[in-house]
Amino acid sequence: MPLKKLVAGNWKMHGLSSDLEEIRVIAAASRDYPEVDVALCLPAILIERAARAVPGFAIGGQDVHHAEKGAHTGCTAAAMLLDAGANLTIVGHSERRDAQRESDAEVQAKARAALECGLNLILCVGESLEAREGGAAVQAVMAQLEGSLPQNVEGEAELAIAYEPIWAIGTGKIPTSVEIREMHTAIRHALEERHGVDGGSVRILYGGSVKASNAGEIFSIADVDGALVGGASLKAADFIPIVAAAAAV
Ligand code: 13P
Repeated sequence: MPLKKLVAGNWKMHGLSSDLEEIRVIAAASRDYPEVDVALCLPAILIERAARAVPGFAIGGQDVHHAEKGAHTGCTAAAMLLDAGANLTIVGHSERRDAQRESDAEVQAKARAALECGLNLILCVGESLEAREGGAAVQAVMAQLEGSLPQNVEGEAELAIAYEPIWAIGTGKIPTSVEIREMHTAIRHALEERHGVDGGSVRILYGGSVKASNAGEIFSIADVDGALVGGASLKAADFIPIVAAAAAV
């Protein structure tokens, strides 16, 4: 049985008070698609205001520190995200793996901290252009998954994996349907081997230049259980048609 689709927006470093109205519009329009889970992952500082503005709608963070608390200037703990009204977070986005030089081990520690605190998680993986062109994309993503997925996590929080090829983020380029299917199938097999039956219930999202014009095709690929959307999640007019496409498959 197909898993319920999850369409999550990653607002990255976008969002001011003046955008709360757009968040309200997105949350209200999402109610027309109860067959899809919809979420917005916002800058940490906007989370509390957004969560108050759209009660009941899933608001998430974009990163979390691995420690419960302590001397970590500028960082945000999982309990703080929850306290602000978030119920999920992204970890391991390639923009952080790259710019903040986050290692697989660090991403794994963050993922564990989030899940154990009760935050649902979107764990990102994705190959470089070099790996894709060198025929090593699946191998690269499997290694990343192995290194960044925590084992034996206690608690009820839900895990999703986002496959985001780095070369497809913000570029308008996307892998072929065959390439997406190959990667999602490989991720599904790895999850099943690692997690046994539970592996089948982990949603695997595709991310990288998802738009209304390509969403339908992407959502029809086997083992694509939703999308992580960057630029096209900032405006309801761009984002809601993607939610509608997920509802239509
Ligand atoms: P774009 O949808 O802007 O390509 O960004 C994808 C992404 O990085 C989502 O996390």
